[in-house]
Amino acid sequence: MSQASEGAAPLKIAVFASGSGSNFQALAERINVGSVNAKIDLVVCDKPSAYVLERAKAFKIDTYVFSPKQYASREDYEREIVEELQARGIGLIVMAGYMRLVTNVLVEPYYGRMINVHPALLPAFPGMDGVGQAIAYGAKVAGPTVHFVDGGTDTGPIIAQRALEVREDDTKETLGARIQHAEYELLPEVVGWIADGRVSLDGRKVTIKH
Ligand code: GAR
Repeated sequence: MSQASEGAAPLKIAVFASGSGSNFQALAERINVGSVNAKIDLVVCDKPSAYVLERAKAFKIDTYVFSPKQYASREDYEREIVEELQARGIGLIVMAGYMRLVTNVLVEPYYGRMINVHPALLPAFPGMDGVGQAIAYGAKVAGPTVHFVDGGTDTGPIIAQRALEVREDDTKETLGARIQHAEYELLPEVVGWIADGRVSLDGRKVTIKH
């Protein structure tokens, strides 16, 4: 935590996730030891059986679970989510393995306050299976990206990336595991910068105050 944020109210976060939630866990642990001035207020999840919900329970964090199939459109469920986020005063949305496209209903009110972690060095290998795409392409470097979310698929302004060497004997599993470990460092670091008010956005250019 920087000196600037000492005493400042913690940034209220909603984590969006669809699966295991290991990034949620890494972020929640960092927050609990006091190294990020934030509070995860809510976990939003589109899969009632996702393991992230067990993890949220263990941290005593509220969950908002919805079934997309029960809605006529993405916009319909996003409208309800936005209502919940606004009622709670959420200041930052962190997408960590949230496997759904988003619409303007969510992007407009939260642009610049919504980030995503992706397991590839964007703009290479957006969309599904970023790690598998990098292996199949024969990339020599790979790694995670944290970026602001816009309406496209992994197209928003890049905040931070970590480059890792791809080894000759790497499989999707071995490379994927190293990338995930890098994500556990990178995502909380970026959330900490945002919580400390150090990140500014001008067009596509993101600047971190040091
Ligand atoms: C993470 O590795 C994240 O980069 C990826 O899903 C994983 C979720 O793992 N996200 C995407 O591929 C988004 N395009 P987790 O549920 O254990 O945090």
